[in-house]
Amino acid sequence: MNQDYIQPNDWSIIEEGFDVDRVKSSESLFSIGNGAMGQRANFEENYSGHTFQGSYIAGIYYPDKTKVGWWKNGYPKYFAKVLNAPNWIGIDIEINGENFDLNSCTEVSNFRRELNMKEGWYNRSFTAVLKNKTEIAVNVRRFLSIELDEVGYINYEITPLNKDAKIVYKPYVDAGVTNEDTNWEEKFWEPLDVKKSGNEGFVTAQTFKTHFKVTTFMHNSILTNGELTHISPSTIDALSDKIQFSYDTIVAKGEKSSIQKIGGYTVSLNHENTVTAAEKIIQVALHKGYDQLLEEHIAAWAKIWEMSDITITGDVKAQQGIRFNIFQLNQTYLGKDSRLNIGPKGFTGEKYGGSTYWDTEAYCIPFYMATKDQQVARNLLTYRFNQLDKAIENAKDNLGFKNGAALYPMVTMNGEECHNEWEITHEEIHRNGAIAFAIFNYYRFTGDYSYIPEKGLEVLIGIARFWHQRASFSKEKDQYVILGVTGPNEYENNINNNFYTNYIAKWCIDYAYEQIQKVSLEYPLDHKRIIEKVALSETELHEWKSVSQNMYFPKSAELGIYLQQDGFLDKDLVPVKDLDRSQRPINQKWSWDRVLRSPYIKQADVLQCFYFFENHFSKEELERNFDFYESFTVHESSLSPCVHSIQAAKLDKMDMAYTFYLRTSRLDLDDYNKEVEEGCHITSMAGTWMSIVEGFGGMRVKNDSLHFSPKIPKEWEGYSFKINFRNQILKIAVTHNETQFSLEGDKEITVFVNEKPIEVQPNQMVTA
Ligand code: BGC
Repeated sequence: MNQDYIQPNDWSIIEEGFDVDRVKSSESLFSIGNGAMGQRANFEENYSGHTFQGSYIAGIYYPDKTKVGWWKNGYPKYFAKVLNAPNWIGIDIEINGENFDLNSCTEVSNFRRELNMKEGWYNRSFTAVLKNKTEIAVNVRRFLSIELDEVGYINYEITPLNKDAKIVYKPYVDAGVTNEDTNWEEKFWEPLDVKKSGNEGFVTAQTFKTHFKVTTFMHNSILTNGELTHISPSTIDALSDKIQFSYDTIVAKGEKSSIQKIGGYTVSLNHENTVTAAEKIIQVALHKGYDQLLEEHIAAWAKIWEMSDITITGDVKAQQGIRFNIFQLNQTYLGKDSRLNIGPKGFTGEKYGGSTYWDTEAYCIPFYMATKDQQVARNLLTYRFNQLDKAIENAKDNLGFKNGAALYPMVTMNGEECHNEWEITHEEIHRNGAIAFAIFNYYRFTGDYSYIPEKGLEVLIGIARFWHQRASFSKEKDQYVILGVTGPNEYENNINNNFYTNYIAKWCIDYAYEQIQKVSLEYPLDHKRIIEKVALSETELHEWKSVSQNMYFPKSAELGIYLQQDGFLDKDLVPVKDLDRSQRPINQKWSWDRVLRSPYIKQADVLQCFYFFENHFSKEELERNFDFYESFTVHESSLSPCVHSIQAAKLDKMDMAYTFYLRTSRLDLDDYNKEVEEGCHITSMAGTWMSIVEGFGGMRVKNDSLHFSPKIPKEWEGYSFKINFRNQILKIAVTHNETQFSLEGDKEITVFVNEKPIEVQPNQMVTA
């Protein structure tokens, strides 16, 4: 059963009622982040029930020593992990001598959580009766400032309802934290220093091996009925990795007592002296105060929403879904720093190590390109350019390639591969293709060609060299083949001639070849610089071309489809609709060999190719391949439903498109894959955005212009979105009767609606 406790609401995620079995799932769903740090919605006070503690800092990771059953040559030595960072939110609370813990209260009522996505804050309120019969009303608000992105703020209010109470607040910062997913039960943090000064406490710790230094800080104020009390901490416990203050207050029945805690991190990635930086940032936050900081934070979110919001009328669950996705994407990555990237779980959990996957290039770039300044997408591309040397090293040292061939890692933090399952690390090589495709996609969308001569071409050459060397010649077929791979569908390993991989390999070579010619004509100096640097000869180029021109693609003439890989039709082709529900998700119910032998597909594979290279194929071909492959697809990757939603909309299968839309947009809210307690699926959220804009809106960029073929699910009254196209902001609003375009910009723009040109003048609305 899907979880259904999240209340439908346009702008908020709301949970009502306290259920210990939902705590971990809600900790994921109510996570907050500001691009620089983020955290699960853990309670501030001590909680003895089941919980998954998680606070994360962007760019801070630990290279956990690899653990595998059977070591295989070429495995990376470590798996980079996003670190569970020191805890700054903790506030132990004692009420009339009893430790307050929601898990041991005799009664909890009116429990409510709200994640207000419009304003970017998280609120929790409830009434509880402690074992000592004290009844309290609690209201806690927390936000991580977008403006001051090293700072978070907690306002924790307690009102004793039935008697006066002695309340002892014991706020702390604690670096004695561990990851749930350590390979060797090691601690990742080495405490360095603990410091206190008045109401301020600091714990400085550094990561073992990577030596990221982090000062975790707090500043506390105690208030009664909103007035500052100037109570000083009465006792202070300072351990080597933790500092805890204790504030005693006597609160009369009905009075509101509160603790305001400012906390956060200053890190050596950004500061030489992290303690001084922490002291300074506390002063800035204090000077602004809670109200002003919150106001600025709300204004910053308003600015983000102004550009990236998608409205849907007539379907509140669909509206909530898309806003949740857009909100989480912005909480995870704001594009300010090209050292950072987008982990599949963002700041909501540890799974996937917080590292960079092909998800960024294949799924996330379109969202960031269209809703932010083009520099943000350029930063994401630059991230890979900066890691090109490591990709070359990876291909050479781990896989025996030569001559500057580059294989980007499947999973990385700093450019080094850190995934260690042979079928993924060594075989899921299609990821290289998405990195080249993103360069093409960036130019297609932004028109900024300068990236290619400056940086992109070297990446394209390294990738083309890889495919040239990775393909082998089959005498039997008299064509080039690519053997022993895993395609996007991870439910098949070590297969030969995965259609998607062969196709993108050919495309990468052709695209690199074309760009070399174009740069040679238009940017001769860059051409000379690059060709000399990479020592590329005409002979090598010629060899590339013979691989791309003679690449083999498996197909079935009888069915009129491409084959996902050699031999796919030998499988027992029982469609998913005939598979008993009790057997799903198959990755949780079946042994791996059974999964591999089955025809079931985890995510778009042949269809991923149709998605990237849509105009290489006819609509009839798409339809035949879609009908065939979708019937075997179990969508057990979060990245799957969005591609299917886009294609179903194109094929006018609107009911299907809508069902896939709900599945992608509410994947976590409704917990389709029964794993939300591990964290949310952040990268696929960009796919949700695509399923509205590219799916229902039918947006494509062709020949430097925006094209639309708007459709609308029957369940909706209307929807609207904005696109930043080459510094002109175009708003598109679709209803069942018409599509309206309006432009914030200074020069007119021609868009195509179902291939018909429409001129949109600045600050005017045009109806199509
Ligand atoms: C998918 C991959 C994806 C990874 C991270 C896996 O389940 O199969 O394609 O890169 O998750 O999102």
